[in-house]
Amino acid sequence: MSPAVPLAYPRPMPEKPTKEADHGVRPGEITVALPDHFDASVYFIGRIRTPWTRREDCPKNARESDALCTIELDPRWAAALQGVETCTHLVVLYWMDKSRRDIVVQVPRHYGESRGTFALRSPARPNPVAMSVVTLKEVRGHTLLVIGLDCLDNTPLIDIKPYFASIDSVTDAIVGWHRDRK
Ligand SMILES: C[S@@+](CC[C@H](N)C(=O)[O-])C[C@H]1O[C@@H](n2cnc3c(N)ncnc32)[C@H](O)[C@@H]1O
Repeated sequence: MSPAVPLAYPRPMPEKPTKEADHGVRPGEITVALPDHFDASVYFIGRIRTPWTRREDCPKNARESDALCTIELDPRWAAALQGVETCTHLVVLYWMDKSRRDIVVQVPRHYGESRGTFALRSPARPNPVAMSVVTLKEVRGHTLLVIGLDCLDNTPLIDIKPYFASIDSVTDAIVGWHRDRK
């Protein structure tokens, strides 16, 4: 199986929000002043290569597309993949580097009603950490081929964990506002 996109690691990516991140605030949305310092730092441990270069072309969530995507782990961390090849599914955490970080109340375009950031899976959040449960198709050296991602090409990777159905699956979980929407 060949990767969805050519492998190339890494391209530099600014840690501070870029101009692209400043994508405006919709009527009804509320922003706050950001804190004047960071409390911690993260290492970007790789890059996620996907077919999507524009946000509007990305799937809205991890189940909306079956495109094969490539996780390119920085070779420095390659030994940390030991055992990963035995997993059918992984939790992938990534950094939505093109997001605003100051919005506390949002009006998602596809819902049209305001919700608090922490009631949403929007990429715009104080720490723009995204997660998806992906299907692992293949491990090729320090590269993983997976299905189930929804991010832009070259999105920074921050962690990979095994998905445990016995721990992580809550089959009767409810998001009330989503279930009750008109
Ligand atoms: C709704 S979020 C869900 C992310 C993740 N599955 C989660 O639940 O945490 C997915 C959307 O984020 C946007 N997005 C993708 N990559 C991004 C990036 N690098 N920076 C900012 N926004 C991004 C796209 O509009 C995409 O449809």
